[in-house]
Amino acid sequence: MESDKQRFSLRREVGLIGAVSFIAGTMIGSGIFISPQYVLSAIGSPGASFVVWACCGLIAMLGGLCYAELGTVIPESGGEFIYILRTAGKVVAFMYVFTYVIIMRPASATGIALSVAEYVVAPFYSGCTPPQLLVKCVAAGGIMVVAIVNCLNVRSATAIQVVTMAVKVLALTGIVLHGVVMLFQGRTENFHKSFEGTNVDVSSIGLAFYQGLWSFDGWNTLNYLTEELKQPEVNLPRAVIIAISLVTGLYLLVNVSYLTVMTPKELMSSSAVAVTWGNKVFGSWGWIMSVAAALSAFGSLNGTFFSGGRVSFVAAREGHLPDILAMAHVHRLTPSPALIVTTIISLLVLIPGDFQSIVNYFSFTAWFFYGITLSGLIYLKIKKPELPRPYRVPIILPILVLLAAICLVLAPIIDDPQIEYLYVTLFIFSGAIIYIPFIHYKLCPKLLTKLTVFLQLFLEVAPADKNL
Ligand code: ARG
Repeated sequence: MESDKQRFSLRREVGLIGAVSFIAGTMIGSGIFISPQYVLSAIGSPGASFVVWACCGLIAMLGGLCYAELGTVIPESGGEFIYILRTAGKVVAFMYVFTYVIIMRPASATGIALSVAEYVVAPFYSGCTPPQLLVKCVAAGGIMVVAIVNCLNVRSATAIQVVTMAVKVLALTGIVLHGVVMLFQGRTENFHKSFEGTNVDVSSIGLAFYQGLWSFDGWNTLNYLTEELKQPEVNLPRAVIIAISLVTGLYLLVNVSYLTVMTPKELMSSSAVAVTWGNKVFGSWGWIMSVAAALSAFGSLNGTFFSGGRVSFVAAREGHLPDILAMAHVHRLTPSPALIVTTIISLLVLIPGDFQSIVNYFSFTAWFFYGITLSGLIYLKIKKPELPRPYRVPIILPILVLLAAICLVLAPIIDDPQIEYLYVTLFIFSGAIIYIPFIHYKLCPKLLTKLTVFLQLFLEVAPADKNL
């Protein structure tokens, strides 16, 4: 077997522009076209909703800067996994990767797919809510299409990325420009008394942040591929600053623009805000916005499938996941085993899930692990000050973001404890129970080897790390 193993080494091919588009392309997706109404209905008033969006941008920026230091102190690819492994140790790192593969990646794929579906069906149901079953079937279709394209070849997956990136930037810029014109024409009536009706209870604030932060999720994308970045010590922090400020600015302006053409009530009751906006602005051509939003989210879905393989790859390299998950098709060079697993689980999550709850459980889990990663940074800063640090942030930054992470994880549990959060927590910790027999003591290696060989032949895959 060993002889026909093709191993490619990762090359440093991503420059500053590539890095900025990686971050911005992952961050901008479904969220900005679907979360504004959820943020607004959770927090109750337009003024407070701007504050939430701005704070989300700030949290993403501070988080990104902290991760930039982590990425230069620990220059390996793999994001949270590798940082947790190097600071908190193997068991916690395994808990992360286990949760990432089984919950976080499929949940984000499903959440995004549901927004693709909302936008695909919206023009056919103007003025009423489309049937959930139809939305779910379309979402399942979207997941299947993306999975097939990504299994077939890397070039089409990249092409989708480029085209949809252009579409989303165009669509958002259009929305922003229209908003600016409206403001100059004095359409500010929806901004009067803008804090009236604000909900100040912990769970409303927490839910508003979960929805807002969903749109910003992806601020850490570059840390998954540090090994492929040219001059990471310069480009990592620069790309983080440029991309996150761009996205934050864009999101705030888009929110303003939505409110120049619709009242807060209309916004809250719209299931696809960009379509409502499109109908108001373009009249019968409103469906154009729907197409644009669907494509944008579709690009994000594609990106989630496309880039997620890197974490599995690094984890398998460290012996934390079955090797099969880091293998690629021998001719097509696509990471089909990892893609197949993600597809199956995403489809399963889709059956019971709705957008809002998927986003809430995703954010809960993601912030739990962002918190652990940030504690790792604080630990390194205190205990290993001698490590070379080409880029450093003041220790107060990781402390602030860690506090935000703790609030985000605890707020919904304390305020409105739901049994599902307990399930998610139990799931995360069950990783530790699996780790000891299977990874630490390597029980049943024979079975695993046999299974790996079988799957390798069946799926025609071999270890390779390029293009994952
Ligand atoms: N921010 C993205 C959106 O609004 C979702 C990102 C999901 N997370 C990820 N790492 N792909 O659609």
